[in-house]
Amino acid sequence: MNIRIEKASVLKQKPEAGIELGFGNYFTDHMFIADYEEGKGWHDLRIVPYQPLTLDPSVQVFHYAQEVFEGLKAYKSEDNRTLLFRPDQNAARMKASCARVCLPEVPEDMFVEAVSALVKLEEDWIPKEKGTSLYIRPFVIATDSFLGIRIPKKASFIIILSPVGNYYPEGLNPVKIWVEDEYVRAVRGGTGAAKVGGNYAASLLATKIAHEAGFTQVLWLDGQERKYIEEVGSMNIFFKINGTIIAPALNGTILPGITRKSCLELIRSWGMPVEERRLSLDEVIEAAENGTLEEIWGSGTAAVISPVGMIHCRGKNYTVQDGGIGEVSQKLYDAITGIQQGRMEGPEGWVREL
Ligand code: COI
Repeated sequence: MNIRIEKASVLKQKPEAGIELGFGNYFTDHMFIADYEEGKGWHDLRIVPYQPLTLDPSVQVFHYAQEVFEGLKAYKSEDNRTLLFRPDQNAARMKASCARVCLPEVPEDMFVEAVSALVKLEEDWIPKEKGTSLYIRPFVIATDSFLGIRIPKKASFIIILSPVGNYYPEGLNPVKIWVEDEYVRAVRGGTGAAKVGGNYAASLLATKIAHEAGFTQVLWLDGQERKYIEEVGSMNIFFKINGTIIAPALNGTILPGITRKSCLELIRSWGMPVEERRLSLDEVIEAAENGTLEEIWGSGTAAVISPVGMIHCRGKNYTVQDGGIGEVSQKLYDAITGIQQGRMEGPEGWVREL
């Protein structure tokens, strides 16, 4: 695979070591771009200086949200190796997301090679402080200059990089979650399982309401009956009730998270009881009321593992784990970040060294 590299003549000032990076505030010196055209396929793979895009105002992405994206991270190990966490999984998911909205599919090997080449070039940007990493944001947009609604004939696949700290200001401290029972994120047959930008736009109104009420994020219920737990928009969700870990089953409306999958694989390897199944809000409330709701946590690339200390539903607040960090949340956080940062041996194939 031939990737042309045009280096930036002037490099940016990197954020100072120790500064609070937050999430998505800084961008590196270079970006990757490849273009697609019907009949020609993906072509002109290049790494160029980070720069604004010039797009005609009529391009489809601006009008019909023909966009998909991914999120993964690169880490520096203590012995200075550059590591990626399960990039093959993101490649497969992006392919599936593209298929769902009729964008040209990015071949999985092209995805992994493009991510690897860009991260390798920018490895000095990977922050080393605890809880930091280099967030990788690949995305595909439809770039046909055409106002009719149709399957795009032109597209671009772009990757940008951002040194990040915690996604939530709370860090590993528990977040407060608002259970949304009016607005919904996804319906059966919709795009809930695809990582498309429109899903996130549709989530903002409920998120605004949650923020105004002092909650960090929204917990979505199913779109049909508003009865079953789905996900938290920026992360998947897990519950521990009476000794058993429960993850809402992937049913076509929930994003198939890579951290979710990794948590399940670790939990099973530890021999803990775990179920992937439909979980109703009533069951969670009953467990909260009878004292068997032991833990709740979210999982995601950006959020990693985020313990949930309080949920608000139907006008009531329920405190979980006394508002503290639960045992399984902590164990998963330690294992996942340990594997990602090369301190612990993970299952075969989880870490790709560049
Ligand atoms: C991620 O965890 O990578 C996400 O995509 C969540 C959010 C930042 C949109």
